[in-house]
Amino acid sequence: MSSIGPVASELQLPERVIIITDTNVKQLYASHVHSGLTHYGFRPDSITIPAGEESKTLEIVRDVYDQLHELRCGRDIAIIALGGGVVGDLAGFVAATYYRGVPFVQIPTTLLAQVDSAVGGKVGVNVPYGKNLIGAFYQPRFVFIDTHTLTTLPERELRSGMAEVIKYGAILDEDLFDTITVNIDSLLQPDVTIFPVIIERCCALKASVVEQDERESGYREILNFGHTIGHALEALTGYSVFTHGEAITYGMMAEVHISVNHCGLPQDDARRLCSLLLRLSPPSIPDTLTEEQIYNAMFSDKKVRSGVVRLSLINQIGDATFGETPDEHYIKQSIRKLFTIEKDICGY
Ligand SMILES: NC(=O)c1ccc[n+]([C@@H]2O[C@H](COP(=O)([O-])OP(=O)(O)OC[C@H]3O[C@@H](n4cnc5c(N)ncnc54)[C@H](O)[C@@H]3O)[C@@H](O)[C@H]2O)c1
Ligand SMILES: [Zn+2]
Repeated sequence: MSSIGPVASELQLPERVIIITDTNVKQLYASHVHSGLTHYGFRPDSITIPAGEESKTLEIVRDVYDQLHELRCGRDIAIIALGGGVVGDLAGFVAATYYRGVPFVQIPTTLLAQVDSAVGGKVGVNVPYGKNLIGAFYQPRFVFIDTHTLTTLPERELRSGMAEVIKYGAILDEDLFDTITVNIDSLLQPDVTIFPVIIERCCALKASVVEQDERESGYREILNFGHTIGHALEALTGYSVFTHGEAITYGMMAEVHISVNHCGLPQDDARRLCSLLLRLSPPSIPDTLTEEQIYNAMFSDKKVRSGVVRLSLINQIGDATFGETPDEHYIKQSIRKLFTIEKDICGY
């Protein structure tokens, strides 16, 4: 982590840097980043927000602006996000808007942030009427990943990030998918040597998608595989039962089933994908939820246009398609399947 100093120096960050972090990550890593930067002539200060999704609000953004003002920060600063996706999204939004934009750096410390949220330039906050509805596209100067940070990550967060890793294999890269399958036992332990290779591959895959369609006018939608049904599950359970990764684990299982019926995904691919997802052991879907509720909740997704659900699906492992509008019957069937899938057998 302390090697941030030479990188920041080489990439000519301004001398004055503000590290935005959260209460958990501050205790673990802030002093390393601080001393790494000081050693190379930077003048760092820190701003800490409470850990958790509840902090990703305009109120906290306002509070951070005020603290920047109190620290006498002008436009000649850089902002460094040190933490998971919550810190990255919020600090990035602050960086995009403070004095109409100051240089921004991401140091992601969760698996999800390392393979997903820190790459691609989407920054923003939640509002009471929806997640991530206020935001911007704002690219970081660089993303600095130290995979050792994963050793302190709670196991549930690691599994959650692993769902996004599996997603990249499923939609874009069969070799990556096979590597994950072979190494899944060691990947669910954080102290393995294979992580840097896998994370680098995921970042490269996301970067190549974003380069082709930064503002999500089409192709970038393939990254939403598993997310339409996943978001429905998250929203219906008040974001309190499932982590994002757990919800999209179920979302992918359902959308695999739709892919079999709508896109001709081979049964064998469906079985391989579903078996791997089951290894993430997401918590059971609450008995109180019904198939109808989950189906209806899909219609509040951002990808719905003119009342039609548009899904990102897969033709085969490593090959995805977007903007698909499968039969209602297939969608409902796939949701029904989720209630039995969790008994440990995916049924392919
Ligand atoms: N911008 C994007 O493209 C994008 C993409 C995906 C997700 N997101 C956003 O990312 C957020 C979720 O990110 P997340 O899963 O990283 O959650 P998070 O930032 O809340 O981090 C999860 C928990 O882990 C703690 N933590 C972080 N790093 C740690 C470490 N190394 N060791 C121990 N604890 C650590 C955090 O304090 C927090 O309690 C959501 O708000 C989501 O909307 C954004
Ligand atoms: Zn996601």
